[in-house]
Amino acid sequence: MINKESVDKLGYIDEPFDSDIDLVKEINRLKVEKNAVILAHYYQNPEIQDIADFVGDSLALAVKATSLESKLIVFAGVKFMGETTKILLPDAKIVLPDMNAGCSLADSCNYNDFKAFKEKHPDHVVVTYVNTNADIKTLSDICCTSSNAEKVINSIPKDKPIIFAPDRNLGSYLKNKLNRDNMLIWDGFCHVHQRFSLEKLVELKKQYSNSKIIAHPECQKTVLIMADYIGSTSQLIDFTRNDSSSIYLVATEFGVIHQMKKYSPSKEFIPVPPDDSACSCNDCFFMKMISLKKLYLSLKYEYPVIELNPDIIAKAKLPIERMIAIR
Ligand code: 13P
Ligand code: SF4
Repeated sequence: MINKESVDKLGYIDEPFDSDIDLVKEINRLKVEKNAVILAHYYQNPEIQDIADFVGDSLALAVKATSLESKLIVFAGVKFMGETTKILLPDAKIVLPDMNAGCSLADSCNYNDFKAFKEKHPDHVVVTYVNTNADIKTLSDICCTSSNAEKVINSIPKDKPIIFAPDRNLGSYLKNKLNRDNMLIWDGFCHVHQRFSLEKLVELKKQYSNSKIIAHPECQKTVLIMADYIGSTSQLIDFTRNDSSSIYLVATEFGVIHQMKKYSPSKEFIPVPPDDSACSCNDCFFMKMISLKKLYLSLKYEYPVIELNPDIIAKAKLPIERMIAIR
């Protein structure tokens, strides 16, 4: 038995257990016993990615959720991803191994401020990046991920003004690339992608002149300008699988390199360093809060679970379904 009140306070289950326990074996056993499914994002630690039933980017994970019949899903990722799964599968139990796994980008856009902003521009179509908390989705016409953001924007008539939130870097990238002058962009950013150092990237490129720079569109414009290829996590992985170069300078969260190496073991993947080398900021510390131990305990006790107000689920569903329809 667990004390739910203390788990709620801590955000995860912290139970001492025999260090000899084989976590991988136990997780696999419980998964079968409970007919549970583990979904993991590419930014998770390698051991989490390897034990998951499905690993993907945020769009692929949302799409996958719609096909699941299991009533118990453990989401190895951050809270907004767990919430998206709950909105799509309201009758399922969505377990998040650590409720502290938030997102600095999602938290840069709060409900009251965004509502007031939207009310100032009532004629605008509201497009929100899926990296938002569930209440923001209730204010959205359509959501997008970095995989389908271009298609989502292109699905809106050219003469329609747009609000894009919350990522200013992805927003500016889309605005310039797609010539959407009438796009208002929220001033949010992700602490991981904001901090890649241009100076260090230039140095690396000098050192590895035959490398290709690949970047996630949440990076700053200065980094994106230098990139040979820009894409979502799955698009970056696919690019390195199909491209003929042998060295890549990778400007996104470190976890993605695990899949790149799996697909292309003979290639070299060098993470672009952050501006402050004292921190390991190309690890998203929210994503990395999920450990095998927390995953095991959350599966064992089917707790902590994502709870959402039914009214939020009802209102947030349509923009997410519209997002899924555009691929
Ligand atoms: P993807 O949509 O590429 O998976 O990115 C998610 C994310 O959190 C980027 O920081
Ligand atoms: Fe959020 Fe950035 Fe972490 Fe992605 S990498 S989950 S945007 S904080």
